Amino acid sequence: MTNFSRRTFARLFGATAAASSLPLPALAAGFKDAIPQPLTPTTHHFPQGFLWGSATASYQVEGAVNEDGRGPSIWDTFSHTPGKTAFGDTGDVADDHFHRYAEDIQIMKNLGVKTYRFSVAWSRVFPNGSGTPNPRGLDFYNRMLDTLLAAGIQPYCTLYHWDLPQTLQDNGGWENRDTAQAFADYAGYTAAHLSDRVKHFMTMNEIRTFVELGYRDGVHAPGLKLTAARVAQLNHYAVLGHGLAVQAIRASAKPGTKVGLAENAIPTAPVIETPEHIEAATRAYRLINASFLTVIMEGRYHDLYLKQLGSDAPKFTAAEMKTIGSPVDFLGLNVYNPAYIRASNSEKGYEVVPSPASYPHMYSPWLEFGPEGIYWSPKLATKLWNVKEIFITENGASSTDVLTPEGEVYDTDRVMFLRNYLTQLHRAVSEGVPVKGYFLWSLLDNYEWADGYSKRFGIHYVDFTTQKRTPKLSAKFYKEVIARNGLA
Ligand code: NOJ
Repeated sequence: MTNFSRRTFARLFGATAAASSLPLPALAAGFKDAIPQPLTPTTHHFPQGFLWGSATASYQVEGAVNEDGRGPSIWDTFSHTPGKTAFGDTGDVADDHFHRYAEDIQIMKNLGVKTYRFSVAWSRVFPNGSGTPNPRGLDFYNRMLDTLLAAGIQPYCTLYHWDLPQTLQDNGGWENRDTAQAFADYAGYTAAHLSDRVKHFMTMNEIRTFVELGYRDGVHAPGLKLTAARVAQLNHYAVLGHGLAVQAIRASAKPGTKVGLAENAIPTAPVIETPEHIEAATRAYRLINASFLTVIMEGRYHDLYLKQLGSDAPKFTAAEMKTIGSPVDFLGLNVYNPAYIRASNSEKGYEVVPSPASYPHMYSPWLEFGPEGIYWSPKLATKLWNVKEIFITENGASSTDVLTPEGEVYDTDRVMFLRNYLTQLHRAVSEGVPVKGYFLWSLLDNYEWADGYSKRFGIHYVDFTTQKRTPKLSAKFYKEVIARNGLA
């Protein structure tokens, strides 16, 4: 018996038994009657047809930044600016997915995923963001989609995952209202060409993140730190771009195409699940997400959001608000960590409960462990806006991920993370919350933005020198979940 197993044995069966020199199987046999048999936990099955998937994004995996006429994006510029990303990492090569997509689709097939969420790089299609499209721009996506469909995997396409064409940024980026129209034109063009094979389009990914980290905090591309008034105005043009794109996709895509978005609405979890705190969490969900998901779902800005901004509030017209509120066919929610909420007598009717320093988090310091978020986010969205179809468009975690000489990655923390989030997701689904699918972030380790390659989110380990992919323990876990359509 190894030290480890003897210690474990001692915990389970007592020190005397563990001290015995008998081999482990003989001891286990001796104690058989004391162990409830079989030791299988309750199975949490998901509804038949639940769509298990995985997700990536163009700049994070593709590489090939100078191929087939692709124009530069703000992430090329930002990542090549000294001091902006960890170790000066760029997405020049990333996972080389542009050349290795067939191998990656085979990996998906082995995993058993039914669907794959990817994003199109705007500057491959319109190298300058608008004007004349690049004739070779969609070639890569055409090849990739044909290979996916041949493998029996349904594609879900995001049109903007933060890689804004640099030319548009040179003209003001999302501060310029024309960018919203350019985005709609690109979205309509791309949907017209891909909707024979893609049935679900997401306009944008995480509007909150690119607005706040890119234009307010300066830690993501384009690296600006603008005033509150300018941020509120460009936020308005970003959500307007979403609404214009919904209309453009509807106008140009094949009948039956569905349109939505993938937003990281902050999940507001009642700190204790009692009616008063649940009520507070519901109010918090609307207000904390006021300028992103709420305005899109309601077509108007929350009164308290405008009041809080005062003279920094965005200027808008009634026609713009109607466009922003264009109905979506489905809602995509990216879920990472929740904010814990409690009731209060303040005007808002809630307070955010701060996390203590000891609160557990994953390898990325911002990623607190909070499985309840994946229960509350879709539940509150359904209650507030009567949404009929929801997908968890992202959920996953970073881990230190060491590849052993035997070729294993024991990411037990990621498995623990996923198991607990999926248990909470099951709780939502079994209560009738209309979550139809789940996209794990991410299929592969990839370019984690300003963190470069230092933070790995994949369930497949990527050696960025050789581009070798190795399934981690979490890939084996996820494969079992998919095969059983549940947790057990
Ligand atoms: C959300 C983003 O959409 C994705 O690009 C990123 O890698 C993950 N969060 C992890 O940070």
